[in-house]
Amino acid sequence: MYIESPRYTERFGSVRMNYVQMVVALDSGTKSELPPHGAMGVMKIDEETIKHFEDKMAIVIPIKDEKLKLFEGVISGIPHDCLVITVSNSQIEKIDRFRMEGDALNQICRFTSREALIVHQKDPAIAESLAEAGYNDLLGEDGLVRDGKCAAMVIGLLMAKAAGKEYVGFVDADNYFPGAILEYVRNYAAGFSMAKSDYSMVRILWHYKPKLSAGLYFKKWGRVSEITNKYLNDLISSKIGFETEVVKTGNAGEHAISMKLAEILPYAAGYAVEPQELVSIFENFGGILPTRERKVMEQGVDIFQIETRNPHLHEEKGDEHLKDMILSALSTIYHSPLCDKELKQAVLSELVRQSIIKEGEEPLPLHITAAPKKMDTKKFVAAIQEDFDKYRALQ
Ligand code: GDD
Repeated sequence: MYIESPRYTERFGSVRMNYVQMVVALDSGTKSELPPHGAMGVMKIDEETIKHFEDKMAIVIPIKDEKLKLFEGVISGIPHDCLVITVSNSQIEKIDRFRMEGDALNQICRFTSREALIVHQKDPAIAESLAEAGYNDLLGEDGLVRDGKCAAMVIGLLMAKAAGKEYVGFVDADNYFPGAILEYVRNYAAGFSMAKSDYSMVRILWHYKPKLSAGLYFKKWGRVSEITNKYLNDLISSKIGFETEVVKTGNAGEHAISMKLAEILPYAAGYAVEPQELVSIFENFGGILPTRERKVMEQGVDIFQIETRNPHLHEEKGDEHLKDMILSALSTIYHSPLCDKELKQAVLSELVRQSIIKEGEEPLPLHITAAPKKMDTKKFVAAIQEDFDKYRALQ
């Protein structure tokens, strides 16, 4: 593919956050001459490089009662060499949707001889392995894994670790375009190929997110992303003393993390998970608060934001859901030790303006799952590996 070279990087302590890079062309051919690195601000990432990273990557699909047709499309878009890990919280009673997902996955894997794992979030064996490894943060009062997309992501990344993968990417199950999924994963690979550090993250910015309102309108920014990005930028600006607009992917559900970085990040519940990843990176490696991770400070953390060619079309879940997402995202900023009094006040005013909280109220702190590194990963991996065959889509 051809992609814009990283042009400008905002440095915040050891964090190198790159401005958005646009995909210029999805394919760069085998014959075309490689332009001198960075010529015209565009670089070529060849197929071999993309395949190299895809082979080391697991793609986690969190799913909860989505249309089966969409799920099938998503799987069909994931590059063949990636390990697919589906973490489902779909209903089992009445209609066993989890079983239907397993059947669909099994069929595609059979047709295409590919590997995939599928696990139910509420499988007691997963909860037992987590408890054995001392990772109770992910467990609810009933002793099973909590509800929510965040818990699914953490289980997925732990399974990716157990499968020996070095990178883990996330894609939602409710995407209408398999071709967009293919592009997201190729962009993850492209991002990792540009990283200088072992600690890296790639976040996807959609080219457009079409809306149906008196015709098809190719909208670029949603209300949630505009607000989240603004306050994440304000958080950085308040610390570096210069206004920045570098953050454009605060809510990026589609993103990927090197396993080394994924293991040392805490994860916030529900839809706060993506903004919290950035907030935690700023807190831990921004050079303002103390950190124990000397190795990471030395290598730095590379964050890439890649803008796709494909538009993004997914299931819409209503206005209340959007308010929930704004509240979650702004809570991560409000409760960060990096957030000063002035910014806290600005966040509160925004939440009141959006009719999400009332005057005088505060956002509640979010449930944060400690970084996976805090658990005995070896114990978890050993326990989960014993059961691995049970999770294989191809039995
Ligand atoms: N396993 C599991 N468990 N999956 C879940 C759960 C759960 O409890 N809740 C939701 N999911 C799955 C959905 O089935 C879907 O595949 C994905 O997680 C995203 O959930 P949605 O509810 O569809 O989120 P959204 O489309 O509103 O928001 C998405 O995009 C945002 C960026 O605009 C999410 O990815 C957000 O995290 C993201 O910020």
